[in-house]
Amino acid sequence: MAESWRDSALRMKGGVIGLARLSAPRGTADIMPQEARRWQELERVARQVFEAYGYGEVRTPIFEYTELFQRGIGEATDVVDKEMYTFRDRADRSLTLRPEGTAGVVRAYLEHRLDGAAQPAKLYYLGPMFRYERPQAGRARQFHQLGAECIGTSDPAADVEMIGMLAGLLRRLGLDGFEVRLNSIGCPRCRPAYVARLREAVASVVEQLCPSCRERYHRSPLRLLDCKRESCQRLTAGVPVLLDALCDECHGHFRQVRQHLDDLEIEYRLWPRLVRGLDYYTKTVFELISPDLGAQDALGGGGRYDGLVETLGGPPTPGVGFAAGMERILLALAKSRPQETASGIDAFVAHHGAEGRRAAVRIAARLRDAGLRVEIDYLNRSLRAQMKQADRQRARAVVIVGEDEAAREAARVRDMETGREQEVPESNLLHVLAQGGN
Ligand code: HAM
Repeated sequence: MAESWRDSALRMKGGVIGLARLSAPRGTADIMPQEARRWQELERVARQVFEAYGYGEVRTPIFEYTELFQRGIGEATDVVDKEMYTFRDRADRSLTLRPEGTAGVVRAYLEHRLDGAAQPAKLYYLGPMFRYERPQAGRARQFHQLGAECIGTSDPAADVEMIGMLAGLLRRLGLDGFEVRLNSIGCPRCRPAYVARLREAVASVVEQLCPSCRERYHRSPLRLLDCKRESCQRLTAGVPVLLDALCDECHGHFRQVRQHLDDLEIEYRLWPRLVRGLDYYTKTVFELISPDLGAQDALGGGGRYDGLVETLGGPPTPGVGFAAGMERILLALAKSRPQETASGIDAFVAHHGAEGRRAAVRIAARLRDAGLRVEIDYLNRSLRAQMKQADRQRARAVVIVGEDEAAREAARVRDMETGREQEVPESNLLHVLAQGGN
C-alpha cells in the first residue's frame, strides 16, 4: 500500500529523512481554493456586519512581546501557562504568537493614543491565532477568529451590542440553532469575597476533585465552576453562585444588560457557571453555543474587561468585546445546510491548431481584463477533451477557436445550457458572453 503523507512525515520525525514528503504541522490546516470561497464569504458578511455597527478594522501583529499576554490574559490561565507558542528572537527577546486578539488590540489602542480620541473606539479583526492545545474536531493549534472590541464605554448597551452583533452575524450566515449563555462574574470589589466563600465551600472536597481542579483551587478558583468532569460538577453542585454575590453596581449593570436583551428580543439562558478562561473579564460574560459541534461547542464568546486597559499601562478605561472561531462557524454551517457546489466559470476558451491557440490566448486575456471568469486549455488537449473540461468546470459558454476562425478573427460560441452554437466576431465576443452565451 502507498505510504500516506502523514506516515512519511512520521518516518521523518524518527530521523529517516530520505525523500519523504512533509505534512502541515499537527493542529494546522491548509485552506484550499474550494473551501477558501466559504471563508471569503464568511469574511465578507462579517465585515459587512461590523461596518454596519460602526467598527473599523485593525490588523495587529501576529506576534507580540510575551509580557503583553502574561499581563493581559493572566499568568494563571491555561492559555498563558500551557498553550502559548513562545520563542526567543535573535536579539533574545521573548515573543509569543498571539493566542487571542484582545490584548494586542488594547495595546494598539494605547500605542496609537486612541484613548485621547473620541470614545468609544470600535475595532474589529479577523485572523489567525495560535494555541498549543490537543487538536480535535473544532480545536486547532492555528485557528482563526473574527472579533470586535468596544473600548471606552461602560454602557450595558455596548455589552448587548456585542451579543447582538455576533448573533446577527450567525443568523445572516444561515445559522440559527445556537444558544446564548450569559453570566456576570462581578468586579474586583465583589469577586474576592465570593472567591473566598467558594474556596471555603469547596475546601472539604478538594482532595476528591480532578488534578486540574485541585490546581485551580489554589491558582484560579473561579474556574472550578466550569470543569467539564461530571464527578467534579457533582462535588461542586451546591456551591454559592456568583450572581447572588454581586455588588450593587455589578448587579445594576447586569439588570440593564438583561433589559436590553429583552428589548431586542435576543433569547438567552442565564448560565451561572460560565466564567471564561481568560483573567481580564469583569461583569458580563457570554458564549454562543452550537448544538452541532460536539465537545468544542462554543462558536464564540466574550465579555466586559473594565480593568484591562489599566493593567496594560493605560488610564482606567472600560471595554467589552467578543471573538468567534471561524473554523467552528464554518463547521456548524456545513452541518446545518448541504454544501453548495462551487460556482462555475463564465467561459472556457477551447482551441485547435497553432493559430487557433494564439488567438485563444489573446481572447482569454481580453475577456479576463473585462472581468469575466475565463479558463483556457494549457495541456494541448483534443477539442473533445477540452469540451469535457469545460463541462467539469461548469462553464456557461465555450469559445472555440480553430485555424479558420482565427483567420477570420472570429470564434464559435457554444451555450452550454442550450447547446446552441454561433459564430461571433472577436470584437463582439464580450458583448455576446456578457449576455449569457447566445
Ligand atoms: P475565547 O473564548 O478564548 O475568547 O475564544 C473565542 C472563540 O475562539 C471560541 O469560542 C472558539 O470558537 C474559538 N477558539 C478558541 N480556541 C480555539 C482553538 N484552539 N481552535 C479553534 N477555535 C478556537 C477569546 O479569545 C477572547 N479574546 C474573546 C474576547 C474578545 N473577549 C473580549 N473581547
